[in-house]
Amino acid sequence: MTSSSSSSLVHKLEDYKPSPWLTPKVNLRFDLDLHLTVVRAEYDVILQAETIEPLFLYGESLEFLSLRMDGAILDPNEYQVTDSGILISHPPKKEFQLTVENRICPAKNTSLEGLYKSGSMLCTQNEPEGFRKIVYSIDRPDNMMRFRVTIAGEKSLFPVMLSNGNFVGENQMGDSKREVIWEDPFPKPSYLFALVAGELIETKDSFQTKSGREITLKIFVEKGNEEKVGFAFDSLKKAMKWDEDTFGLEYDLDLFMIVAVEDFNMGAMENKGLNLFNAKLVLADKKSATDESFESILAVIAHEYFHNWTGNRVTLRNWFNLTLKEGLTVFRDQWFTEDMTDPAVKRIKDVLFLKEFQFPEDQGPMSHPILPKSYREMNNFYTVTVYEKGAEVIRLISEIIGRESFKKGLKHYLSKYDGKGVTFEEFISSMEEVVGKSIPYLRNWYHRSGTPLLSVKESYEKETNEWIFEIVDTGSSEYPLVYSNSFAVFDLDGNLIIENKRIMAGERDQIRISALDPNGTKPIISLFRSLSSPVRLDDHQSEEEIKILAKVETDGVARFFAFQNLIFDWFRKSLGSGKEEDFSAIIETIADSFTRNWEKTYLSFYLSFPGLTQISENLNCYQFSKIQKLRVWAIQTIATTFTKNFQILLEENRKTIPVQTKEEIGKRKLKNIALYYLLYDPSRKFEKLAVMEQREAKHMSEEVSAMRFLVEIESSEKENSVNSFFEKWKKDNLVLDVWFAAQVSSGEDRAKIAEKLEKHPQFNIRNPNKVRSLYFSLARNPLSFHKEDGSGYSFIAERIRLLNEINPQMAASLTKLFSPVSKQEGDLPKIAKKELKKIEVLPNLSKELGEVLGTILSSL
Ligand code: TRP
Ligand code: ZN
Repeated sequence: MTSSSSSSLVHKLEDYKPSPWLTPKVNLRFDLDLHLTVVRAEYDVILQAETIEPLFLYGESLEFLSLRMDGAILDPNEYQVTDSGILISHPPKKEFQLTVENRICPAKNTSLEGLYKSGSMLCTQNEPEGFRKIVYSIDRPDNMMRFRVTIAGEKSLFPVMLSNGNFVGENQMGDSKREVIWEDPFPKPSYLFALVAGELIETKDSFQTKSGREITLKIFVEKGNEEKVGFAFDSLKKAMKWDEDTFGLEYDLDLFMIVAVEDFNMGAMENKGLNLFNAKLVLADKKSATDESFESILAVIAHEYFHNWTGNRVTLRNWFNLTLKEGLTVFRDQWFTEDMTDPAVKRIKDVLFLKEFQFPEDQGPMSHPILPKSYREMNNFYTVTVYEKGAEVIRLISEIIGRESFKKGLKHYLSKYDGKGVTFEEFISSMEEVVGKSIPYLRNWYHRSGTPLLSVKESYEKETNEWIFEIVDTGSSEYPLVYSNSFAVFDLDGNLIIENKRIMAGERDQIRISALDPNGTKPIISLFRSLSSPVRLDDHQSEEEIKILAKVETDGVARFFAFQNLIFDWFRKSLGSGKEEDFSAIIETIADSFTRNWEKTYLSFYLSFPGLTQISENLNCYQFSKIQKLRVWAIQTIATTFTKNFQILLEENRKTIPVQTKEEIGKRKLKNIALYYLLYDPSRKFEKLAVMEQREAKHMSEEVSAMRFLVEIESSEKENSVNSFFEKWKKDNLVLDVWFAAQVSSGEDRAKIAEKLEKHPQFNIRNPNKVRSLYFSLARNPLSFHKEDGSGYSFIAERIRLLNEINPQMAASLTKLFSPVSKQEGDLPKIAKKELKKIEVLPNLSKELGEVLGTILSSL
């Protein structure tokens, strides 16, 4: 693609062609300045195509300075500079050196892509296509370069200057300036390049690899945060050890660095040897971080570290194949967390997440295969589908061939394609090679969008006295799929009689099970346990059967989801009849759960009542106020039925020690669940317990839950709770994110509160964490966002218009939350359409936002 008007183009998978030119080596030079940074790149350019083709260097928001070929200034007639890059239509030879120079203004770069300023530092974000905002380049993943980087800057402003790989040396440039040189021995695409410079505090640790090499680990933070890195270091060392133990993968440089950045569009970025992190995913101590944030830190540090092999050493040929590195690396980090914490609980969390966020995406206007066929702006495809469904497909492969073969397959893949850019095809064939056979239909998972809906038909065959369970894929026959179905069979007393796994290749499968007795009594079947394939099942079971499974399933994950189904079933019936239906099955199941000796964390998940979005997505019903009324009734009924039990749970788990052990995390979680139910007791007599909990908290998990609950139930203590939380934490920016979020995440009419909060001096629309805390939280609160009068829509739409100018990536991802509007009742779709149309006509509508708007509007 060498067109200079590339910005409006749709990129299509079928049009992919390797880059005709490559730049295997680059010398980069930065003369840093907050307002005018000069960047020079010296490329070795070689032709890869058969014959000479035009050479295009991508470049956006750059001020062009000069272009030289083999040292000589290039005649301006020989090239064209446009808004999207430099085109050299007829390069005179097949190999030459090209030196290009341009200027940029990091201080004005609010998109947080390319080189930008955050707090006291300059830093970069280049995935997927940010490098072209730094310097003219062949900015595509199939162009791998060896980087040598020189950074020059004022000593006072930039005492620390970092890039990828190894530190080579430094030169003094008079009294006030200095330059440093970094070299990365491993070739990499431009998206993995990183630079950080500023006033940073260095913290240090080390790790010895299994072959005995000593790796220096460094975490850089802004002043004041140096006490909050301990957990991140521990997480990193665990991840390094796990990758060695599980896959034999050792780290490959002598230095591994992490930098914590305040203003960051996503979670973190795996730049070679120099990972950049959203500060909230590095910094933690027991006073200021919740158990959930500790666990995210563990998972994301591991995720980025694991990319060093799955993503960096073996990288992508093109962006369509993003899931090759992301799906695989998410699967690796999920597996890691399963090993480090509790496998069943971790799987429950991951499946809940998938169902709450990915299933709806796949059933809505943004639905796309994990290998998108086309895109206008790649930034829009960092989706839960590419990441989490992608991970489910990798998990499926491991289910089909087994985890031991999977380990062999991954090692084989990494050694075969080390240093290359590949596609999902190379990954799958590596897996097939180690097991010596091909896996039918597997590749179709990369091409078919939507969550497969499987129907289950049950029938009895008299002659054989067997029950037949016929499973049929009700979806597209264009792309038949392969499934791994882990299933179990129980008798009516709840005894496990069969446990098995079947590979279902294609559209249907039949499972035959002997009846329980000569009279043909039907056994209870539990299908796709632990979600052994990413599918939805139609409701094929009776309440009675589900109720038994919710008690006796031996697979804790399947047991958990059986109970959830029992709850959803009750909502379905009650919404249908317009009144609260018989609730006894749920009450009985909860009573039973109190008699079991389940792990604390497991029990706390089991007892957590599903949220509004979860319920509505599951039932495909968007009458939020009706669901919410039923939900409150259900929670109150549980609370009043089990008051004693919850009081005991609360008492037993009250004394927790603020450490990150399974036992203590479990206690905190369980007592919070107990408190939650007690607060819903209509007598309201337990509110003082929450007030006390907040006041006496030793761990942020306790403090924050108390505040959240008091806000959610509109307690008379709400104001006090919110104010005292603020007074205590107003100096800690990351804790304030939680404070902003808590006030708009639940309840009706929170747009008004958001309007007040965004004027708060510590709110800042340029900081993505703040935008997520306030705007995203509000848009994920259905009672406020989908409010009948449209006030939620117009509030968010207006903020999207502001963000379009500031940070298009954030604007586009906020817009995605409008996806479910076409399913809403009454005038809401019409109101949404009107609001979105107002955005569409913006004069500076970004490519990111334009693509998402177009997709959603076409569903309205
Ligand atoms: N590759 C990153 C990951 O580990 C995610 C990423 C993509 C990203 N684009 C980004 C992070 C932009 C920050 C900003 O999943
Ligand atoms: Zn990733």
